[in-house]
Amino acid sequence: MNSTLNIVVFSGAGMSAESGIETFRDSNGLWENYAIEEVATPQAWQRDPDLVTEFYNQRRKTIIEATPNQAHEGVVQLEEFGDVLVITQNIDDLHERAGSKNVLHLHGNIRQSKSSGPNQEKAYYPIDGWKLDNNSRCPEGYRLRPHVVWFGEDVPCYEKAALKLHDADILIVIGTSLQVYPAAGLIQYASNAHTKYIIDPKADELHVPSDFIKLNSTASQGIANVIKSMRK
Ligand code: APR
Repeated sequence: MNSTLNIVVFSGAGMSAESGIETFRDSNGLWENYAIEEVATPQAWQRDPDLVTEFYNQRRKTIIEATPNQAHEGVVQLEEFGDVLVITQNIDDLHERAGSKNVLHLHGNIRQSKSSGPNQEKAYYPIDGWKLDNNSRCPEGYRLRPHVVWFGEDVPCYEKAALKLHDADILIVIGTSLQVYPAAGLIQYASNAHTKYIIDPKADELHVPSDFIKLNSTASQGIANVIKSMRK
């Protein structure tokens, strides 16, 4: 009988807001300044791969220059209570840079590239620095693209994430508007969790099952409060 607590943190862009990285749907969010269909769909890649590559190069530059914030560090501190898995919608590597070891990226990892060729899902290539060069090719000769799940593409580790959520004793949802599926639908799999939190300045406006404890605060303040309550 594994007595260790299984803690799952499910994070979104709000997790990195206090690191200075803009979210997608807040005022002046990323999707207010860029059209999704121009930079974040397979059709956009077919139409203008250089534009898509440059869009992610600029975001990668911002992410490399950013640093993890107290919320990322708080998630690492949760490890004093049990096994912590981070399931994140974010493509930044701030959870890892804060020290989280078990991170599942539902929507990819901007620090890696993959082949744009058919059936090339499994090979990922680390990008050195902020710039993925337009001439980068995989061994089979296909152009390299950002390892990012675009709108309309499958979420490769969805099933794995669902299984992990099924085993969660505590679920902490942080900094996501829960508007993008299938990722947002994953929280329903945490049916065995005895405690569920949602941390967001607009938590009261978010539609979650009634058994969630809503913390209307920033990620850093919210995770600090959760840690305080767990230490009691
Ligand atoms: N602390 C915590 N939450 C915050 C903070 C903060 N400092 N600032 C903003 N938020 C909250 C917002 O209130 C909002 O609910 O973070 C959430 C951000 O929501 P979105 O911008 O929609 O980001 P996210 O939910 O991660 O988007 C999901 O959409 O565009 C796709 O692939 C992209 O992974 C992304 C997905």
